[in-house]
Amino acid sequence: MRISMVGAGYVGLVSGACFADFGHDVVCVDTDEDKIAGLRAGHIPIFEPGLDQLVATNLKAGRLSFDTDLAAAVSDADAVFLAVGTPSRRGDGHADLSHVYAAARQIAQFLKGFTVVVTKSTVPVGTGDEVERIIREANPAADFTVVSNPEFLREGAAISDFKRPDRIVIGLNEERARPSMEEIYRPLYLNALPIMFTSRRSAELIKYASNAFLAMKITFINEMADLCEALDADVQEVARGMGLDQRIGSKFLHAGPGYGGSCFPKDTLALVKAAQDAASPVRLIETTVAVNDTRKRAMARKIIAACGGNVRGKTIAVLGLTFKPNTDDMREAPSLAVIQALQDGGARIRAYDPEGMESARQLLENVNFGRSPYEIVEGADALVIVTEWDAFRALDLDRIGRAMKSRVLVDLRNIYRTEKVEKHGFLYVGIGRPKANDG
Ligand SMILES: NC(=O)c1ccc[n+]([C@@H]2O[C@H](COP(=O)([O-])OP(=O)(O)OC[C@H]3O[C@@H](n4cnc5c(N)ncnc54)[C@H](O)[C@@H]3O)[C@@H](O)[C@H]2O)c1
Repeated sequence: MRISMVGAGYVGLVSGACFADFGHDVVCVDTDEDKIAGLRAGHIPIFEPGLDQLVATNLKAGRLSFDTDLAAAVSDADAVFLAVGTPSRRGDGHADLSHVYAAARQIAQFLKGFTVVVTKSTVPVGTGDEVERIIREANPAADFTVVSNPEFLREGAAISDFKRPDRIVIGLNEERARPSMEEIYRPLYLNALPIMFTSRRSAELIKYASNAFLAMKITFINEMADLCEALDADVQEVARGMGLDQRIGSKFLHAGPGYGGSCFPKDTLALVKAAQDAASPVRLIETTVAVNDTRKRAMARKIIAACGGNVRGKTIAVLGLTFKPNTDDMREAPSLAVIQALQDGGARIRAYDPEGMESARQLLENVNFGRSPYEIVEGADALVIVTEWDAFRALDLDRIGRAMKSRVLVDLRNIYRTEKVEKHGFLYVGIGRPKANDG
């Protein structure tokens, strides 16, 4: 199949490279000229494990190319995927669909022959109808159908998620889109993957409902963690005890500083807003959003308490800035709010992240970035783990302790065991741990 991928960001680039790897001919088109020039020169604009190799192999094989020009890419395509961003709209929190609509308008004039237009971006219910209307208005003669094919990949594991998904959801209103979509996913389909055809509106909602559910699950265990602290129980034990129940499952039951990232915050909010507009409010998700919002600054209060109730003039070393490990994505990362709140309290911040510091520099002010965990703890009053990169799991605590001014470790991801850290003379504060062990 000849595929045109409009938008070469985290989703477009990974999807495009994976489709090319399946054997399709893929052109990724982006309005960002620097990004396209870089990609042509073999520079991958994001950190995603394995992506550089996948892009290089498929570029070399001639199945993958990059362009800023839509004309040829779209007119030759059997399917045009829209994978542009849908951030929160400033001011009201609805999904900002301006990029999706602009892309629909731009591709319309170039459509030639029967083309399936596939929305891969996360969009509210009814967006497919509007994309269809825009294209028809711009090019009444175009022969096309609009399909919803939401993407469920996770940054940091994007390639394996794309190639081995739990399910592929395809929402269509016209049967004639089905053969093209089956052909596109055939390499996966052959392995009897659960490919699921639904109405276009259902597919659009499946994506939001899934993300909202996962965000709610995280928020649930975060509240349980707070309750554990109040009642002297251990959230790790509670989560394990719950997760072994197959109806619940162990994933997304890790207590932490609150969810962040490029999807959950904006998607939960967009669902809340869309549901209110439909006069069918989703109160569980409204509460999830509110609880999560307050959690990040609450984490800063926890850190301040560990520092004796005051951080003015103190140096706090922050390990991990990205919203999760194995990505360089800083969008809505909890570290941003935690650091801001600490700075509001008068703290000086030193920080280190294996991949996120370049983006972090653009978002954080007055932060001193170091080259390693050991460099940033020099003379620090406390060390805070915000993101659980593997490289932070086996730190030399003796060396860290000797370098620090005082031995305080606040572990917002519970990657250390209380006893082990306390053995090195630290005050250790985790999330949802019993007071007795938390020192
Ligand atoms: N990032 C994720 O983990 C993830 C996972 C699943 C779904 N999604 C959804 O996928 C969509 C894309 O997310 P992302 O993280 O890849 O975004 P992104 O910001 O990384 O990439 C979007 C790209 O689209 C380009 N673009 C914008 N308008 C364009 C236009 N008119 N023509 C061509 N290119 C254009 C931008 O330059 C940018 O490179 C969003 O709707 C998001 O919710 C993201």
